[in-house]
Amino acid sequence: MNFSLSEEHIMIRDAARHFAQTELLPGVIERDDKQYFPKELVKKMGDLGFMGVMVNPKYGGSGMDTISYVLIMEELSKIDASASVIVSVNNSLVCYGLEAYGTEEQKQKYLKKLATGEFVGAFCLSEPEAGSDATSQKTTAIDKGDHYLLNGTKNWITNGGRADIYIVIAQTDKDKGSHGINAFIVEKNAEGFHIGPKEDKLGIRGSDTHTLQFNDVKVPKENRIGANGSGFRFAMTTLSGGRIGIASQALGIASGAYELALNYSKQRKAFGTEICNHQAIAFKLADMHTDIEAARMLVMKAAWDKDQGNTYDKSSAMAKLYASKVAMEHTIEAVQIHGGNGFVKDYHVERLMRDAKITQIYEGTSEIQKIVISRSLLKA
Ligand code: CAA
Repeated sequence: MNFSLSEEHIMIRDAARHFAQTELLPGVIERDDKQYFPKELVKKMGDLGFMGVMVNPKYGGSGMDTISYVLIMEELSKIDASASVIVSVNNSLVCYGLEAYGTEEQKQKYLKKLATGEFVGAFCLSEPEAGSDATSQKTTAIDKGDHYLLNGTKNWITNGGRADIYIVIAQTDKDKGSHGINAFIVEKNAEGFHIGPKEDKLGIRGSDTHTLQFNDVKVPKENRIGANGSGFRFAMTTLSGGRIGIASQALGIASGAYELALNYSKQRKAFGTEICNHQAIAFKLADMHTDIEAARMLVMKAAWDKDQGNTYDKSSAMAKLYASKVAMEHTIEAVQIHGGNGFVKDYHVERLMRDAKITQIYEGTSEIQKIVISRSLLKA
């Protein structure tokens, strides 16, 4: 067993770290405040290969492994979790889904642009009444011969306002339950497709989240992904990989907050010494570091499982469950270590604390991860 990163992995991590420090850090507070993320930054992430990390170079991707993806995600998330969720959805839910299940024509037409960052993708599964209960899709896609007619509402859609391509999960045959669901590619200019107002969120405020409306949208037959009825399986397998991305986002948020708290504690003086010299603070730092390292092991194990071709439903759910818990708990501790300064924006930890919460909710709540883990245990 080898716990060391390869030279190549270190180079990739350092490139992501440099980008995050030089390009994401300036302006991160303003982007959070004003709720935007500029196209130019998405383009820069595309130029660095971050928008299609694992995609085969023949489709415009970087051809890297999942470990590299996790390292990039952690570094971006330490500084700006809004940037990293744009990257994560594009990589894990859109590019992966298309590369694994799309036709060659779909890959040529869409994947190449998504993998380079020319296009941004969104993944539309959640509905007003089908978030955790993903089989209860109300959005319908009726087979009309040469096209499907798509009707319904999707909500909480990351990249909802900025995407060029939307992967939409819809019910095609209610009687067949999870086998009567399909995934479709919808282009942003499709007639009958409307983008609702942007959500005003607690965290990851730079990334845009919207409700989407589909009113008699004609989706060409060739835009269905995979065999008829495979949409639920498509969504579940895609989400399993997505959970590795969100776990690494949570890891980055936690380690970003820890690094800030550690540095602050070495500078801030109280009762005649730097506060890190007080056990009350030193013990918090010890707990934070230990839990973050444990989360990193789970995240790396899930990424490794995916790279090895092992099943990774359970390991990705475990990584997301634990890393998101660590992110939430320890960003609160980071604010505490900063005292009053932690409560103001300039010190960054209050934003990380707000950003942490969503990692326990999206791509399956913590409760959903426990369902996935326990089912896997009981099946074994
Ligand atoms: N891989 C392959 N197939 C799978 C699978 C997986 N991981 N999980 C389920 N399936 C298959 C099952 O084998 C079953 O097939 P058969 O009928 O042939 O046996 C079928 O799918 C139905 O499975 P279940 O009976 O297990 O389905 P369920 O209704 O009990 O739901 C669930 C399971 C795990 C709770 C699932 O609904 C789930 O994961 N829900 C959460 C959804 C979610 O993560 N939503 C977040 C939205 S996306 C998002 O947040 C993106 C963003 O913008 C950031």
